[in-house]
Amino acid sequence: MSKPDNIRGHSGGVSRRHILGASAAGMAFAATRVYANPAGDAPTTPDKAITELQDWSQALGDGVDAKPYGVPSKYEAGVVRRNVEWLTASPQSSVNFTPLHDLEGIITPNGLCFERHHGGVAEINPAKFRFMINGLVEKPMVFTIDDLKRFPRENRIFFLECAANSGMEWRGAQLNGCQFTHGMIHNVMYTGVSLKRVLEEAGLKTNAKWVMPEGGDSAAMNRSIPLFKALDDCMLAYAMNGEALRPEQGYPLRLVVPGWEGNMWVKWIRRIEVGDMPWHAREETSKYTDLMENGNARRFTWEMDAKSVITNPSPQAPIKHKKGFTVLSGVAWSGRGKVSRVDVTIDGGKNWHTARLDGPSFDKSMHRFYYEFDWNGEPLLLQSRAIDSTGYVQPTKDELRQVRGYNSIYHNNAIQTWHVKANGEVENVEIS
Ligand code: MTE
Ligand code: CO
Repeated sequence: MSKPDNIRGHSGGVSRRHILGASAAGMAFAATRVYANPAGDAPTTPDKAITELQDWSQALGDGVDAKPYGVPSKYEAGVVRRNVEWLTASPQSSVNFTPLHDLEGIITPNGLCFERHHGGVAEINPAKFRFMINGLVEKPMVFTIDDLKRFPRENRIFFLECAANSGMEWRGAQLNGCQFTHGMIHNVMYTGVSLKRVLEEAGLKTNAKWVMPEGGDSAAMNRSIPLFKALDDCMLAYAMNGEALRPEQGYPLRLVVPGWEGNMWVKWIRRIEVGDMPWHAREETSKYTDLMENGNARRFTWEMDAKSVITNPSPQAPIKHKKGFTVLSGVAWSGRGKVSRVDVTIDGGKNWHTARLDGPSFDKSMHRFYYEFDWNGEPLLLQSRAIDSTGYVQPTKDELRQVRGYNSIYHNNAIQTWHVKANGEVENVEIS
């Protein structure tokens, strides 16, 4: 699939000679060599022994009361959500991005979950909060948060991906970092009540076919969700990763719509109306539809297709050693189930290797993968390809564009390429 002379960098191309070098280098690698002969290439820093007392062992440290709510080490101050200033006109209708290259495992810490708001963060006093169900129900109902906490609880881990994740990359490699190309995703454990249970309490009328969640923020965001999904695995969540939702993630209550585009996961939810037809709200007509080459638009593109990205190395996380044992890592997910396999190439698709999936594997959740190899210090073209439990294979950018054209913003789940240079720096590129 890779034509070495047809590579496009985010800043306008890389020379043919450069990429030929990368491909040739890649051919020589074999994972087994790493384990058979690690000597010389071992991941250690030969240094002198520790001979003097270091600063931190010579005085007492802070007591237990110093930080009632703990925060990361000051040396981790660079691990933050970031935005792209030119992308949006105002910070209230904007987005920032999860620093995927700085994270491990599959759980996103609450303070690092990307935020996407259309009207800023609503600050809701939980004592005044109310949630209502109306429309085609036997008994319209209003709940407080405490009422909802008297329903049986569920704990589930799901990814939330904005449909616009990777949207800036449709027309070519653009943003230099997986935080920016893929960071409109987070993966947390939600606690709450199943939406089915609450709808049953209100009693669905026989002609009920759709539900419309509506936000209590200034954007009053609303979407149409078919009843089969509402009764399947949706949740009304009040906690994430063990603590109350953060204000920016919808405190005190948000809708969880597993595997479906993030826009439907209404935050600060104040109401669900039950109806017999979709509402055709702004967010499912003028937005969150996909304009095809023939001028028609796809609508109701709810499911998030299988996708993956290599988080390390990546442009914000270059390789710091000259050569030798190297850990490649990344994340993969699918809106249709589990990720059953991830393939990795380091030579732009000439050779594919099965990555090692590590950590828990849940439906519609992030999965963590690794590929360890012995780097000979020459340029590389890194790609990962996810395969989900339905057998769906993540497409190349060319394959995706053949079907969807160049006009789209949403639902770009194409394979990402990183170009690793000999000095360890990494750049966002495309190959075809
Ligand atoms: N809900 C409300 N009420 N208002 C919003 O602006 N943004 C939506 C969705 N729910 C939004 C909302 C979009 S587009 C996405 S991608 C997700 O929330 C983002 O959730 P997060 O901020 O927790 O990452
Ligand atoms: Co979104």
